[in-house]
Amino acid sequence: MRSTSTPSPDKAAKHATAQPGPPDAIALLTADHEHVKDLFAQYDKLGERALVSKKKLANEICLELSKHATAEEEIFYPAVRAAGGDNADLIDEATVEHASAKSLIAQILDMDASDALFDAKVKVLSEQIEHHVGEEEGDIFPKARKAKLDLAALAEAIAARKEQIGIADAH
Ligand SMILES: [Fe+2]
Ligand SMILES: [Fe+2]
Repeated sequence: MRSTSTPSPDKAAKHATAQPGPPDAIALLTADHEHVKDLFAQYDKLGERALVSKKKLANEICLELSKHATAEEEIFYPAVRAAGGDNADLIDEATVEHASAKSLIAQILDMDASDALFDAKVKVLSEQIEHHVGEEEGDIFPKARKAKLDLAALAEAIAARKEQIGIADAH
């Protein structure tokens, strides 16, 4: 659906990274990255015995990452791959990184925060995601930008797909 109204200055100011005009898939995915980075930072600040908060925050991280990764795999990555060039190798690598992250996510969701290795698994997940995000933002997104994809249509499709994914899908 297309709105005829222009974005209000207030809305634009709230999203410093958002650009005026139609939604942009790269801006949306980058905002997701920032959000998850912030959640990992919050986790780091929790006290050793804050088990309920740890589990709650870990679940939120796992859910956000699952939504994001699935939407990338099903919508964004195929569009970048189809643009050709050496994109296929980058997308293959990113897909393998997703599989690795999803395996850790499933393990974390099945654990209690008091379990041995719970913190370690969340930490390793954050490191893997940091590396992966670096490659997306450093390599894949610039190539997608150059490929002149329909980033507005992709943004709508990604947002819609993310809505459909729940915590049960992350196991
Ligand atoms: Fe991503
Ligand atoms: Fe990704």
